[in-house]
Amino acid sequence: MKFFIDTAEIEEIKQANLRGWVDGVTTNPTLIAKAGKPFFDVIKEICKEVPGKPVSAEVISLKADEMFSEGLELAKLSDNVVVKIPMCEDGMIAVKKLKAAGIRTNVTLVFSPVQALLAAKAGASMVSPFVGRLDDIGIEGMDMVSQVIQIYQNYDFDTEVLVASVRSPMHIQISAEMGADIATIPFKVMQQMTNHPLTDKGIKMFLDDWNKAQKK
Ligand code: G3P
Repeated sequence: MKFFIDTAEIEEIKQANLRGWVDGVTTNPTLIAKAGKPFFDVIKEICKEVPGKPVSAEVISLKADEMFSEGLELAKLSDNVVVKIPMCEDGMIAVKKLKAAGIRTNVTLVFSPVQALLAAKAGASMVSPFVGRLDDIGIEGMDMVSQVIQIYQNYDFDTEVLVASVRSPMHIQISAEMGADIATIPFKVMQQMTNHPLTDKGIKMFLDDWNKAQKK
């Protein structure tokens, strides 16, 4: 399972990379705004940090032709760039045109299996089902991911399922059990994955026993 980190903060990407947790990066307009630096500068800096690994950069326009030209500009920044396109009719036109131009796309803000089906039919390289935001409104986000994986397997689509809007290590565990291709994970959730109270207890016990033995 590929781990992408969901951030535009270069320091988080560096730290996660040190730990072997970065197979790619996803950003979105909110994360870019948080970074507080010009959009293209942030994307170029991230691509330099993770050479050869996919970096999603999202278009702003909602009109097909403008999304397409924004996508062409973003793709010029680096070979790693994957153009992120929001799920909408014009977005599907842009995805199809970008694919024909040899540019990879990640269809985002997907909340239903049929939206994911449309993304695959348009030729998206990746689709981003948002599980946390579904959970937030009382709908089981991981059920939707399971349905998307099943549909893609039924028709042998090569669009990768990129689980997004991840809120907890449980989202990662269930995604991995389901065979999702990728999960994009906030750095703090990555760190939470290392924690378990019995691990802490075991480390303390080993050190206490070791120190007791040194004193003898
Ligand atoms: O970046 C895409 C997605 O992961 C955003 O998730 O936490 O804003 O629902 P979130």
